[in-house]
Amino acid sequence: MLTEKLNNGVEIPVIGLGTYRIGHTDEETYRAVRSALEVGYRHIDTATLYLNEKPVGRAIRESGIAREDIFVTTKLWGSDVLSNRIHEAFDGSLSNLGLDYVDLYLVHWPVKGKLGFTWQTMEQIYQTGKAKSIGVSNHLIHHLEELLQEASIVPAVNQMELHPYLTQKDVVAYCRRKGIVPEAWSPLGSSKIPLLQEEMLKDIGARYDKSPAQIVLRWNIDTGVVSIPKSSDFHRQQENIAIFDFQLTPEEIGQIDALNRDYRTGIDPDKISF
Ligand SMILES: NC(=O)c1ccc[n+]([C@@H]2O[C@H](COP(=O)([O-])OP(=O)(O)OC[C@H]3O[C@@H](n4cnc5c(N)ncnc54)[C@H](OP(=O)(O)O)[C@@H]3O)[C@@H](O)[C@H]2O)c1
Repeated sequence: MLTEKLNNGVEIPVIGLGTYRIGHTDEETYRAVRSALEVGYRHIDTATLYLNEKPVGRAIRESGIAREDIFVTTKLWGSDVLSNRIHEAFDGSLSNLGLDYVDLYLVHWPVKGKLGFTWQTMEQIYQTGKAKSIGVSNHLIHHLEELLQEASIVPAVNQMELHPYLTQKDVVAYCRRKGIVPEAWSPLGSSKIPLLQEEMLKDIGARYDKSPAQIVLRWNIDTGVVSIPKSSDFHRQQENIAIFDFQLTPEEIGQIDALNRDYRTGIDPDKISF
């Protein structure tokens, strides 16, 4: 799997499996993660919030794939910041996953008034070696500016809602200037918007014999964005990584960029509360 180098030298596979609501039961979650690993995923994205770290971790441990060959991300939830339990939350995630370390630990959402404190604690976790990289999620430019004022370590990643209806060009450009890799959540627009019905995506797809989902995921790769599509279905999991045999032209990238309408399916990061 193609990788992108983070600012500390760690390599992140450019496509990962999103696991939010990937199964209704632990067994379904376990089976979905196992099937993704079988079809070739080497990057799995979970979070404390998803309440699925146990089956996700079990699928990783029982996959037969060497631990160092799988990139695992989990995330710190805001209520653990507010209750000053960041170290305990991280240890709880490792214990749920049944792993000795994660490859990436993310601050899930910015907690107003706590950005510097949160990040300094993340840096302490990084120093233990149990998180190979640390980063943030849902941070806007002003959050990153505030955090960087007190940071010794620049976040490796900013995971944000990003798809053709919400390209976040300003945040992406800021991240690039600072050496932060942009990562797209809901890269397919989730199930909430009919993004994949766009005729233009179908037309571009017809040129390469690819689906609209594959065109959107390739657009991420061709614009330097890591993405984590979720699919519970074996065939769509396969489809979402069968995108390494073609490349979009600058014109096609421009056409997809032009779909932007600054449309969020999720919460505005300035309006989140815990
Ligand atoms: N940091 C954050 O705050 C945050 C927030 C939200 C999500 N996330 C992460 O981002 C991941 C992805 O986001 P998401 O789950 O919201 O949305 P998504 O990956 O954009 O879309 C998932 C939806 O698309 C369908 N799908 C997948 N592949 C498809 C294909 N090839 N063709 C047609 N439909 C397809 C899935 O259905 P099937 O499962 O039936 O295939 C599911 O309904 C999450 O799972 C989570 O790990 C992070």
